[in-house]
Amino acid sequence: MAERLTWGLIGTGRISGVFARGLAHSRTGKLLAVASRTREAADRFGQEHNVPRCYGSYEALLADKDVQAVYVSTPHPMHAEWAVRAAEAGKHVLCEKPIGVNHTEATAIIEAARKHDVFLMEAFMYRCHPQTHKLIELVRGGIIGQVRVIHASFSFHATFKEDSRIYDPSLAGGGVLDVGCYCTSMSRLIAGVATGKDFAEPIEVKGVGHLGSTGVDEYASAVLKFPGDIIANLATGIAVTQDNAVRIFGTKGYISVPWPWIPNREGGPSRILLHKPGQSEPQEIIVSCDEWLYGLEADTVARDLDRRQATPPAMTWDDTLGNMKTLDRWREAIGLVYEFEKR
Ligand SMILES: NC(=O)c1ccc[n+]([C@@H]2O[C@H](COP(=O)([O-])OP(=O)(O)OC[C@H]3O[C@@H](n4cnc5c(N)ncnc54)[C@H](OP(=O)(O)O)[C@@H]3O)[C@@H](O)[C@H]2O)c1
Repeated sequence: MAERLTWGLIGTGRISGVFARGLAHSRTGKLLAVASRTREAADRFGQEHNVPRCYGSYEALLADKDVQAVYVSTPHPMHAEWAVRAAEAGKHVLCEKPIGVNHTEATAIIEAARKHDVFLMEAFMYRCHPQTHKLIELVRGGIIGQVRVIHASFSFHATFKEDSRIYDPSLAGGGVLDVGCYCTSMSRLIAGVATGKDFAEPIEVKGVGHLGSTGVDEYASAVLKFPGDIIANLATGIAVTQDNAVRIFGTKGYISVPWPWIPNREGGPSRILLHKPGQSEPQEIIVSCDEWLYGLEADTVARDLDRRQATPPAMTWDDTLGNMKTLDRWREAIGLVYEFEKR
């Protein structure tokens, strides 16, 4: 077997553990190191995931010459610092979504990757999964005719806790950045594919939202208008569970995707439903996949490493910049500016 890409993880939170398990099932990666702000958390994580090298600071991991790629999974406001520092240390970077808090931070991270000649991808794992590839093929092939309307929702109900990052404005909490970013990225992907591109940028962004007592957006919606008069309805939240589905309506029927974001974490089939006019039951399209979702993401990094950015539909740099700009506009529409952004 060819030599495996050696990974180091920055942060030992919830998704870092999920990624570590996925990486263990990847075709190309090897988990070499983990770093935490505390030695204890690094050792604990290292023991659980069988990681050879455990560091009590992020700097120490970046100084490890044997680490080739770094996965950044801190809260959003720390992504920019650690993605940039990883690039400066000559490491390839997979950075959790959203890549930064706003378009300005995204630009700085991409510039660092360009300057230091390293790979960089924003970690929208669903873009690496064959279900998304199939969805693109169906839309591109015109199976539902001309695309007119897209619905995308990602919204869950998390009980309020004092120490929860998603309710904490100093950690850029709220739904739009945490999971609304999936909805913007999916609508931009589908609107693009429907008009012969890899992704599209909205001409108009209208948004409404509810800001809770901590100041973060607890639920919000947006309507986007794209070239070709494609309209997207997006819904997100951290204080209400919604259907978490994607539907694409065209002139000859519609497609629904019941599990668009996390099709199957540990591999296995997923399904897309095709609703045609005059048919009482939808046609079920089964997408088979033997790979783990986050393993596929790590394999995407390894596959595209030499190009320095991902091949669509995985997130390219311009796709990331467009997504962050759309999120900026959605947040502006609902009046959500974090205090630390004002400084
Ligand atoms: N792609 C996906 O499926 C997915 C799913 C969930 C989350 N995410 C993204 O991943 C990121 C982390 O989410 P999570 O749910 O894993 O968060 P989490 O459980 O709160 O973990 C975040 C980790 O970041 C580190 N950290 C560094 N500075 C911190 C600070 N000031 N306060 C708190 N933690 C700090 C901590 O690790 P140490 O203590 O070890 O330093 C902490 O465990 C977010 O940006 C989120 O959007 C992606």
